[in-house]
Amino acid sequence: MTRLCIRVPKTEGERVRAELLSKGILDTGRRIGSDNGFLLIPILTDEYDDHEIIEADLEHLEHAPTDYKDALDIPEELKEYLPTSFDIIGDVAVIKLPDILLPYKNSIGDSLIKVNRSVRIVMMDSGVKGDLRIRELERIAGEGGSATIHKEFGVRMAADPSKVYFNPRLASERYRIASLVKDGEIIIDMFAGAAPFGLVICKRARPKIIYSIDINPDAERFARKSMELNRIENIVPITGDAAEAIKDLPEADRVIMNLPQTAEVFLADALSKTKVSGIVHLHKVIERSELDIFIGSMEKEAGSRGFGIIIDTVTELKTYSPTMSVYVFDIRRVE
Ligand SMILES: C[S@@+](CC[C@H](N)C(=O)[O-])C[C@H]1O[C@@H](n2cnc3c(N)ncnc32)[C@H](O)[C@@H]1O
Repeated sequence: MTRLCIRVPKTEGERVRAELLSKGILDTGRRIGSDNGFLLIPILTDEYDDHEIIEADLEHLEHAPTDYKDALDIPEELKEYLPTSFDIIGDVAVIKLPDILLPYKNSIGDSLIKVNRSVRIVMMDSGVKGDLRIRELERIAGEGGSATIHKEFGVRMAADPSKVYFNPRLASERYRIASLVKDGEIIIDMFAGAAPFGLVICKRARPKIIYSIDINPDAERFARKSMELNRIENIVPITGDAAEAIKDLPEADRVIMNLPQTAEVFLADALSKTKVSGIVHLHKVIERSELDIFIGSMEKEAGSRGFGIIIDTVTELKTYSPTMSVYVFDIRRVE
């Protein structure tokens, strides 16, 4: 039977498969196909920005439904409100539901567990709150708490989305930054959460040391647990305000600023600890129409504090609202 899939080079296959799985849109009921050095990975949605969606004949793996919507008994007119994607963090599924579906939240949770064998509990997400960016979560199906171990590119990450920010959708961005890291780099991750960037970098590259700062004390606890799980020793978790904690650190080859709401406020602090020719990766959510204005304001702010910068690349990471997107700016410090 013909099904929707995306065609990706074999070398990219594992990364894309893991990403689709973490977004809850991998069709696990079909076998992945191959075609001339490419993989055909079955997908549960007809909208996916990163790859063109095509149709292909892929072998059916089981008779049970693979899309939670097919396992769910709710009035037909409500089905259009069901989310197409959700996050999977380890064995915890995290889903946002519109108000109209709240009376059915437990059935929705149960159907997610039914079709995703790796999911133990389902948490309903009412949004990220406060400076710590922690999700407001309510368990709607399954047993036990939300502490879990998430796997990303062979790295085991201790996480609990009710205690510390964790976003499986940043897997590709972590991979991208890790692939830029050269041997012996000193890296500062200013808003590190449970240190997922540091963990992936240590696994895929050979940095000298990574300072992982976060203001949330639970972040350090999870970072240390993951370091143990992966036998990683060159991450230094630090609990504190990045603007203060960074003052005690040596100059870095690379600074990661993953605080999309307000990262630019800390740009001068970051540049004060970035070597000349070093790179700052600054994540920022902005109006798509105001990209040039934002770049101009960063150049002006850096200049007024005595730092020269060049924007090497600007990458749109994801859509945030009809008019806004999350971007990453790779900013080079120059003389
Ligand atoms: C968007 S999250 C990013 C977490 C992490 N980079 C990841 O990919 O999972 C931003 C993090 O910044 C932390 N944070 C907010 N303000 C901070 C500050 N002034 N200094 C240090 N950390 C801060 C929050 O606790 C949160 O964990």
